[in-house]
Amino acid sequence: MSIYIDPDAVSRLRQYEMPGKLGFGRVIAPVMFRAVCQDGCWSRGELVPYTALSLDPAAKVLHYGQSCFEGLKAYRTPDDEVALFRPEKNAARMAYSAKRLCMSPVPESLFLDGVRTVALYCANLVPANSGESLYLRPFLMGTQADLTVSASASYMFYVIASPSEAYHAGNMRLWVERDDTRAAVGGTGDAKVGGNYAASLLSTGRLRERGYDQSLWLNPANRSSVDELSGMNFFAVMGEVLYTPALNGSILEGVTRASLIELARDRGYQVVEGEIHINELLKQVASGVCSEAFACGTAAIVSSISVIGDAGGSYRLSKAPGPVAQSLRQALLDIQEGRAEDRYGWMQLLGAITN
Ligand code: COI
Repeated sequence: MSIYIDPDAVSRLRQYEMPGKLGFGRVIAPVMFRAVCQDGCWSRGELVPYTALSLDPAAKVLHYGQSCFEGLKAYRTPDDEVALFRPEKNAARMAYSAKRLCMSPVPESLFLDGVRTVALYCANLVPANSGESLYLRPFLMGTQADLTVSASASYMFYVIASPSEAYHAGNMRLWVERDDTRAAVGGTGDAKVGGNYAASLLSTGRLRERGYDQSLWLNPANRSSVDELSGMNFFAVMGEVLYTPALNGSILEGVTRASLIELARDRGYQVVEGEIHINELLKQVASGVCSEAFACGTAAIVSSISVIGDAGGSYRLSKAPGPVAQSLRQALLDIQEGRAEDRYGWMQLLGAITN
């Protein structure tokens, strides 16, 4: 199906001036992509000016949380082309999240049309500095207006965009969350749904008061093995071995996580996906056997961890990124930003940036 391009969207883009200071997710591009679904039939996609949404107050998303989202990035290559990183992975994960919440999944072709159209039309908003990019945020919600607890028959799909820096500059201070849990196995732990993030906010508020940045979530079933951070996967380095929690049903299957595992193995590291017991991890940090820990995600890229705080004390790692985190971050960015050969076939070139 062809995509409708609203001339007002194009003129908004022409008039747009990008602010100098970006941060993460604060500057929002002046256009968005949208499509609607009724009883399983999707409309054609449209690129329209960015504007507030009009929603019926009885829409199911507002009461029963039928909503899921994705995060992916568009990069500027040295030849001033715009490129996407593994967008079909995000399309598949969004379909998985949608099915978990009994929502009409966005067809892969519509999802890809949405992210490609926004990235191409916003090509001039893709920042040029390494580590910066155009963050794309596709999201889907159930809009049927009635208060019965049942799946919506109507959905809205949007893609908005934000020229952004990395979510975190590194030197992250984590707090081991031993009281609350975030998302259960068999529930929505492995789906990218808003409720999982809402469930993390109370913990984040508590730890910020103590000077920490992010919760380190434990597995909800055993309360003793590490799962992930609130919006990032976790890695620990011990000798030449990288450890990361296995995909156990309560962890999001990160696209960055999967890509780093592949990059690390190709660089000769052993990568173990398994259970990381928190008390054992803290012991290894204290003894120096664990030399590095880092978080990763689309927004975070690779972000080094300098402290893991727990009721029993503070476990310190280097404030500067360790060599493993640094080399994997660089290898990933070199592919994403077009400096290295893309021998994995991860990048999709979309077209030239005109200024
Ligand atoms: C991402 O890395 O894309 C995320 O969704 C994490 C966060 C900003 C919610």
